[in-house]
Amino acid sequence: MIDVFGDQEGSQFTAADWDRVLRSTFVRQVEFHREIRSTNDRALELARQAGRQYPLLVLAEEQIAGRGRGANRWWAGRGALTFSLLLETQALDLPPRRWPQASLTAGLAVSEAIETMLADRCVQLKWPNDVYVRGRKACGILVEVPPRGDGRVVVGIGINVNNSLREAPPELQATATALCDAAQREFAVIEVLEQVLVRLAERLQGIGRQDEELRNRWRERCLLTGRDVQVKLGGRTVEGTCRGIDEEGALVVDTAHGVERCLAGVVTRF
Ligand code: BTN
Repeated sequence: MIDVFGDQEGSQFTAADWDRVLRSTFVRQVEFHREIRSTNDRALELARQAGRQYPLLVLAEEQIAGRGRGANRWWAGRGALTFSLLLETQALDLPPRRWPQASLTAGLAVSEAIETMLADRCVQLKWPNDVYVRGRKACGILVEVPPRGDGRVVVGIGINVNNSLREAPPELQATATALCDAAQREFAVIEVLEQVLVRLAERLQGIGRQDEELRNRWRERCLLTGRDVQVKLGGRTVEGTCRGIDEEGALVVDTAHGVERCLAGVVTRF
């Protein structure tokens, strides 16, 4: 099922692209918006409605009020890939205790997909929800659970693809990057989307299977391992040396008072 909102003329996506997504990935329903405030907001709204097919992809040509974690905004200039997947947790065997693993696993899927398109092994995961290319943030992930739950989860993904950071607000230019900046060429955004969706289907299934390989892959790509980090956990701050990510997806920090496992939180220094 495909629903298109707004004019498709001049869009980076074509009608044939939706067929391709439905044919070659696990997505069963597509909603395309020429302009939208936030694909996560829309997916959360759809989660309250009946008669949908899952996984449901909400894709935006232009997202004008994208949200990041906490009160952060997500900048996405023209050429960015911004989308949210509405998933059924039962189908993925994803009980609440494993939700912290969903961001990392989605990050791993994005890392693997984009690394095949870049020339070298240069993609890392910054726990719990960012993907870094050559030390700069190229992708952010926002996993949210609809207020009444209903067995659904939203995985929102923003990837800087052809939206060069040259066009970005100055405060982002020092810390972020886009695939086009890293590779010095443009990418077919639909191919990036397709590759990410294929990897997501594989890797998300791995959470339910408690796949050892999944855990090894998070660990290998952990940007923070060996670094001195500061993590904010609610009202508390944890400081120490990062020893990696454990089997449940927690960040392991060696502090002056012993080892702390951070299952959620925000890394404020690294
Ligand atoms: C972060 O870095 O804090 C997470 C950013 C997540 C951005 C994506 S873009 C698609 C989806 N819709 C949103 O409003 N946010 C996510």
